[in-house]
Amino acid sequence: MPLIRVPKSWEIPDREITPETFFLNRRRFMTNLIGAGLTASLLPLTGCDNDSNSKLANGQFSTKAFPDLTRNPNFAQVDRPITEEDLATKYNNFYEYGGTKSIWKEAQKLPLENWQVEVTGLVKNPRIYDIDELPKKFPIEERVYRFRCVEAWAMVVPWVGFPMKLLMADVEPTSKAKFVRFTSFYDAKITKGNGFFSQFYPWPYKEGLRIEEMANELAFFAIGIYGKDLPKQNGAPLREVIPWKYGFKGAKSIVKIEFVEEQPATFWNTLSPNEYGFEANVNPEKPHPRWSQATERIVGPGSSFSWETRPTIIYNGYGEYVANLYA
Ligand code: MTE
Repeated sequence: MPLIRVPKSWEIPDREITPETFFLNRRRFMTNLIGAGLTASLLPLTGCDNDSNSKLANGQFSTKAFPDLTRNPNFAQVDRPITEEDLATKYNNFYEYGGTKSIWKEAQKLPLENWQVEVTGLVKNPRIYDIDELPKKFPIEERVYRFRCVEAWAMVVPWVGFPMKLLMADVEPTSKAKFVRFTSFYDAKITKGNGFFSQFYPWPYKEGLRIEEMANELAFFAIGIYGKDLPKQNGAPLREVIPWKYGFKGAKSIVKIEFVEEQPATFWNTLSPNEYGFEANVNPEKPHPRWSQATERIVGPGSSFSWETRPTIIYNGYGEYVANLYA
């Protein structure tokens, strides 16, 4: 049953949401807009529109955290509204801080001071980036992506960050590099998780991709959401966003990125390989051993029983960009 709710000011009203096929590529997008005589009027609307934001020319907008942000027109909207900020920042998975969805308060223990990200392994230019260096070095943009958790809930999040391929170009992986491993912040005194079993988990949280997946146009490093710095509970100050894969592939609070020859061991895959594959592409036809993946529940206000259910889309709707990786 669809939910009736009042959109937040930063959401694009439903009537302006165009079928996703309209946005399949930039040229078609621009041609359609120009054809409709809408370029000037619609583009500025794609910016965030709350009190701290102001619209600039050419689709640029300004927020306190990101003074000249542009929403990438190829990823300006999807087939459903952007999730309310309050839900995306208060309904989380971050097992370092607990095993429930309400870890946002616990996650405030994450210390962000002097954060560095080490990029190492099979690269020509190993680097240690100070976190503040990243938005100066790489052009920052906003992308609205569907987000699908393996637990069959889904959101739509406006991420702020830069494509992973830009960082790859900076460090230059060698021809031996076949995979990449991302490691999250871990300090046994702070990231204790909760419950008896968490002491046996294979900390720190690690995830991995094939090098071709990392080079894909969609693979993204986020440093913000909703025009603001990434909140701690969402993986501050740097996380992966891989929209065609289940959410667990997106390691949060990254401290290390390593280019390696062999497929790296990852957190959930080590814990339960039959349930959480390394590839983990969103696929309605491939059920999780304990539940179907044919449909997903769209996170909304109120009890999850009242959330809208939709059919899951293969590759989470991003097949046009990624299906060739798995041909
Ligand atoms: N990264 C770390 N370090 N620890 C985690 O527990 N959970 C993963 C992923 N990244 C997780 C993580 C899972 S299961 C999901 S669904 C997403 O983060 C949730 O991201 P969100 O809380 O921003 O929605």
